[in-house]
Amino acid sequence: MSSFTRKSIISTMLIGSVLAGTAFTALPMNHSLIPVASAASSSFSQFLHDNAPSRTVTTNSKGVATVTNLSSTVVLVNKKRNLPSTYEPKDLVVPNIPFSFSGSSPKKQMRKVAASAIEKLFAAAKKDGIDIKAVSGYRSYATQKSIFDRNASIKGEAVANKTSARPGQSEHQTGLAMDISSASAGYDLQQSFGNTKEGRWLKANAHKYGFIIRYGKDQEKLTGYSYEPWHVRYVGVYIAGEITSQKLTLEQYLERGK
Ligand code: DAL
Ligand code: ZN
Repeated sequence: MSSFTRKSIISTMLIGSVLAGTAFTALPMNHSLIPVASAASSSFSQFLHDNAPSRTVTTNSKGVATVTNLSSTVVLVNKKRNLPSTYEPKDLVVPNIPFSFSGSSPKKQMRKVAASAIEKLFAAAKKDGIDIKAVSGYRSYATQKSIFDRNASIKGEAVANKTSARPGQSEHQTGLAMDISSASAGYDLQQSFGNTKEGRWLKANAHKYGFIIRYGKDQEKLTGYSYEPWHVRYVGVYIAGEITSQKLTLEQYLERGK
């Protein structure tokens, strides 16, 4: 073995031990990294497998499909997959973030995991000089029903269907979604928010805190909803990164588990 080869092997081992930390240095080289890495990736594959769309739904005799992984951070709710009308997350809390309105309201709430992630997102926005406010988080089945019915009576059912979820089909009922806007968009939920400095910041940074822009600009055919640059959905940091960098919908990503 040349001295050059020996040196590169030694330096590769050193880099490996720095990357892997104490587990690598404390255990024999050939038995440390590989089992740890494969155990981690196999439990992630198992997670995706368990949450695959085909495994997380039950269809009744009338053809109504209800999701079964209600408390999963990757629960998939859409026009074909309903939440039970009685479903209310058990761990709703009010995140410590600025809201566009004052006073207490159920719509300030999110599930704990999403609330602590959105606090980090808002802290990062503040640090970057981005002034955003939360507009609407958790909504019960009954609240979603009155929103949809009102929109349908004003705009007609076909238009309402593209902008507003029917009761049982809204991510807001999961406690994992939040609508966000800015003064520059009048704290309104309108597509122009996507062109503001704040909307662009949200699109570029949401994934770092575990959120995706759930209804993307060129994804109307896939999601069933028009572009909503204001609606973020918590899925966890790793999956949000994958979905964002690969420009996927949550539906497309979760098909990987099948
Ligand atoms: N605007 C979204 C689709 C909802 O109503 O949940
Ligand atoms: Zn929303």
